[in-house]
Order: sequence, then C-alpha cells, then structure tokens
Amino acid sequence: MNLSKNTILITGGAAGIGFELARQLCRRGNKVIITGRDQAKLDSALTQLPDVTIIKSDAGEIRDIETLHQRIVRDFPELNVLINNAGIMRDINFHKDERSLEDLTREIEINLCGPIRLTKKFLPQLKARPEAAIVNVSSGLAFVPLPISPIYCATKAALHSFTQSLRVQLKNTKVKVFELAPPATDTPLLRHGNPSDLKGVSIMSVEAMVTAAMKGFEKDNFEIRPGQANQLKFMSRLAPEFILKQLSRSVDRMLAS
Ligand SMILES: NC(=O)c1ccc[n+]([C@@H]2O[C@H](COP(=O)([O-])OP(=O)(O)OC[C@H]3O[C@@H](n4cnc5c(N)ncnc54)[C@H](OP(=O)(O)O)[C@@H]3O)[C@@H](O)[C@H]2O)c1
Repeated sequence: MNLSKNTILITGGAAGIGFELARQLCRRGNKVIITGRDQAKLDSALTQLPDVTIIKSDAGEIRDIETLHQRIVRDFPELNVLINNAGIMRDINFHKDERSLEDLTREIEINLCGPIRLTKKFLPQLKARPEAAIVNVSSGLAFVPLPISPIYCATKAALHSFTQSLRVQLKNTKVKVFELAPPATDTPLLRHGNPSDLKGVSIMSVEAMVTAAMKGFEKDNFEIRPGQANQLKFMSRLAPEFILKQLSRSVDRMLAS
C-alpha cells in the first residue's frame, strides 16, 4: 500500500493508536479525517494536528455512521482508505456484573458491528478508487482470550475472522484488506485496567507499534502482528492451553478475592 497522497478516515483518532496513526500518516502527506465521541478530545487532537479534519461520530451508532458517510461522500469523495480503529475494552466479572443487558454488549456494537457497518457503507466509494484499503484494528487477543475481558476478546476474534473473509471476497477488487493486531500498547485503553494484570507483559510504545504497522502496510503484509501479538498467535497454535492459562491469572485473582 502506498503511504502518501491518500485520503484516510480513522475512527477513534483522537487518542492512542488512532491518534498516532493520524500523526504519522499526516507527516507522510496524506489527508486524514478522524472521528470520536468526545468533542473536547477531538478539539485537542486538532490543536496538535492542525491538518486533520475532525468529525464527532460514534462508531457504535448506526445513525452516526449514516451521517458520517453522507458527510464523507460530500466533502471527501476521493476517500480511499478506511481504518476501523475505534474500540473499547472492559473487564467484566460475570459473577458480579450489574450492567444492563444493553450495556453488557456495547463492545460488540463498537468493536465489531462498527467495522462491519462502516465497511458496508464505504465499500462502493472505496471500490471506485484506483487504489484503496480497509484496515481493521483487532488485537493479539484475537488469537487467545484474556478471560477478564471476555466480550472484548470475543469481538476481536470475530473481527479477525470477518477480516479474513472480507479479504477473500474483495480479492478481485482494488481494495486491499489489512488486519493490524496490536500487542499491549501504551495508550489510555491499556491504562484503564489493573496494573498487576500487566505483570510480565512487554508493553510497546504507541510510536513503535504504529511505526511497525506502517512498515507492514508498505510491504502489503495483510496481517500485521507487531511484537508480542505475533507470539500470541504462534503460542495459540503451539500450546493453546498453556497460553490460555497464562492469560487467566487475572481471573484466578478475581475468583480468589
Ligand atoms: N492499547 C492496546 O494495548 C491495544 C492492544 C490491542 C488492540 N488495541 C485496539 O486498538 C484500537 C485503539 O485502541 P487504543 O489503545 O488506542 O484505545 P484508546 O487509547 O482508548 O483510544 C481509543 C479512541 O477511540 C475512540 N473511541 C472509542 N469508542 C468510540 C466509538 N464508539 N466511536 C468513535 N470513537 C471511539 C476514543 O475516543 P472517544 O472516547 O472520544 O470516543 C479514543 O480516541 C482499539 O480497537 C483497541 O481494541 C489496543
């Protein structure tokens, strides 16, 4: 994938991996549009990256996706790259959790339904471009779950599967389908949890992770697994029970408390 002169939509681009993708892609001469739910966060991103376009839009809401699509078709008909990055991750203890049934599955709406719906809406526009790409940001946890975050991991495993199918369905088009499966990366999302759950995990800086992603895009490496994400995929095949046990320690602590 050519990494300059594209027009790129990044969902969830006001912080973390999405923001760093926007920063590095702007520096390489791309037009970048970022979305997010929080206007203040978007405004702050714009202060740091004055060349980006910010649009308030929730990837988990169908109405927002429709409005975003109309705005992009009108203002950026040349859009040729969609990066489905927006995502949330929550620890959920099924013994004690008191969320409503609607809230319980919110990660599915944002992390899985969001990319599927955005792909469906933007595909005609992407297919009309001479070069185009869809990037789905999954996780190393797509390959083996971290049981303290059961719904998050289920969405990432499903997004991995969806991306594989989509790549096959689009093989005769100009739209390249990438999966970026980050390892633990130093962003606000990672900092939400219990620090003891990260014991022994090597955490990548967001700059290094996105730099690795850029190299992968340039080489048309369609499943990019920086750092420990690669080990997680390898271990999920070589020693699946061992690696699941390793990732289950936080649940063991939860059950003991
Ligand atoms: N950090 C890691 O260790 C790691 C590892 C593997 C995979 N990932 C994946 O990488 C992606 C980015 O994660 P991150 O670590 O950068 O997270 P982050 O630091 O929490 O940033 C996520 C961004 O997405 C936005 N966002 C969240 N929900 C949204 C929604 N419904 N619609 C639009 N924007 C939304 C947030 O802004 P608002 O709150 O303002 O909407 C925020 O700007 C996620 O898909 C995550 O699962 C992260």
